[in-house]
Amino acid sequence: MKSLQLLSFLLLSCIIVSGNTYEGNKKEALGSQSEHTTAKKYQQNLETKFRLYTDTAEGSCRVFVNQLETLDKCGFNASLPLVMIVHGWSVDGILESWIWKMAAALKSQHNQMNVIIADWLTLAHQHYPIAVQNTRTTGQEIAQFVEWLEESVQFSRSNVHLIGYSLGAHVSGFAGSFINGTKKIGRITGLDPAGPLFEGMSPTDRLSPDDANFVDAIHTFTKQHMGLSVGIKQPVAHFDFYPNGGTFQPGCHILYVYNHIAQYGINGIAQTVKCAHERSVHLFIDSLLHKDKQSTAYWCNDINTFNKGLCLNCRKNRCNTLGYTIREERLPKSRRLFLKTRARMPFKVYHYQFKIHIINEIEGKQIEPAFTMSLSGTKEDAKKLHIPLVEGVTGNKTYSFLITLDTDIGDIIMIKLKWEGTPVWENIWDTFQTIIPWTKGTRRPGLIVKAIRVKAGETQHKYTFCPQSIDNIHLHPSQEKTFVKCEDHFERSI
Ligand SMILES: *[C@@H]1O[C@H](CO)[C@@H](O)[C@H](O)[C@H]1NC(C)=O
Ligand SMILES: *[C@@H]1O[C@H](CO)[C@@H](O)[C@H](O)[C@H]1NC(C)=O
Ligand SMILES: *[C@@H]1O[C@H](CO)[C@@H](O)[C@H](O)[C@H]1NC(C)=O
Repeated sequence: MKSLQLLSFLLLSCIIVSGNTYEGNKKEALGSQSEHTTAKKYQQNLETKFRLYTDTAEGSCRVFVNQLETLDKCGFNASLPLVMIVHGWSVDGILESWIWKMAAALKSQHNQMNVIIADWLTLAHQHYPIAVQNTRTTGQEIAQFVEWLEESVQFSRSNVHLIGYSLGAHVSGFAGSFINGTKKIGRITGLDPAGPLFEGMSPTDRLSPDDANFVDAIHTFTKQHMGLSVGIKQPVAHFDFYPNGGTFQPGCHILYVYNHIAQYGINGIAQTVKCAHERSVHLFIDSLLHKDKQSTAYWCNDINTFNKGLCLNCRKNRCNTLGYTIREERLPKSRRLFLKTRARMPFKVYHYQFKIHIINEIEGKQIEPAFTMSLSGTKEDAKKLHIPLVEGVTGNKTYSFLITLDTDIGDIIMIKLKWEGTPVWENIWDTFQTIIPWTKGTRRPGLIVKAIRVKAGETQHKYTFCPQSIDNIHLHPSQEKTFVKCEDHFERSI
């Protein structure tokens, strides 16, 4: 138990530790020290460095508030929107590698934009509580930068999209709330907004839906360790996405710690912590890089309901798209959206709700829920899917569950359902029949599966499948039964 406590402690103490990084000393374009053309209204020495991302070897070019010529020099195009990337807490004082990946993804897929990295490393490379205090200062500086753009080049704040990771999400929130005037900035995206010292705080003390015309957030590491979590659990946006429930992410499992330790030494623990936290970033990058693989998320109360497949309804705009191409809709109340993902890019999976009506004929006997299913689609097949039933099968009941597939198998045309149970009961029944001869010739009790209903989340298609042979609908252990699309008249009768 002691080692577990130590592990938790280490996990906590190296929250958000950065991993491999690009060299941070990208050459900065030095701002001209010459004449100050605009009025000295704006504070001169901002701590935050605004680096316009460029496709050059330097990687970025520094824009100085009050030095209009630096905008031209760096190639800022005032007729295009601005996306600003805001990093989080920094342990080593270097810009993390995801920042450059994000900037490149934004630029390559949507070249029609200016991408600026808000580098607040000097304020973020502090003890966590100090860095938290500095989020306000940095937010204030970003607000000033946007106001300056507005005044100097008539750049509308509604064309500004702030993308903030971890503490950077709250920095973005403060930027949005500190900007003067009644108009708001266009959009803020919070990528796993930091939890410690923000969870449960009032909306003015953290990222909230009021901070921009539209706010979205992706929560990926809200798992609790000793009462604290790295990412904030509560909704903070108009749309809050909880991939895989938001607590933890596939491919980041604690068992991987050992692999990471082998690979990176003790920093491997940090790699694991970082994995789920930073997943929010890579989900967003994925949405830019794979336009044909956009992930749909579904409005749901909680992950347990979602895991039963009960939330795949997209009617009345219940669904939305995770990432850059989200449908921007201002709702009066935060909406929690759920989805499953793969462990790596592209993260998209295909969600299905299955409803199976099972009648257990074996009176008083609860059946272990060991079933598998194989699906035949118009494009591909999916074999031997484990059916995630938690409760034993009794009586006469409909079971609903969620199945996700990594690939698009097309329309489902056939289902094979197998009861993986061992035929022990069969043997008992045979013995029973030998002892009590008059039961000979009677049918062995088993399970009756009359129909399987399927709802595909991504296409919103619904299907009902019936047993291929209607005379023999009984299922016995280790048997497999084939289900095909129901004939219309039969579907009506069930
Ligand atoms: C700025 O962007 C607009 C719109 O894409 C384009 O027409 C214009 O040529 C760009 N200006 C410069 C200086 O690149
Ligand atoms: C907003 O207005 C006040 C008062 O004029 C000024 O002190 C401040 O710098 C302005 N900008 C921001 C981002 O607060
Ligand atoms: C199963 O339940 C349904 C409705 O609750 C009922 O109509 C049907 O007769 C039952 N079937 C059996 C075999 O008990």
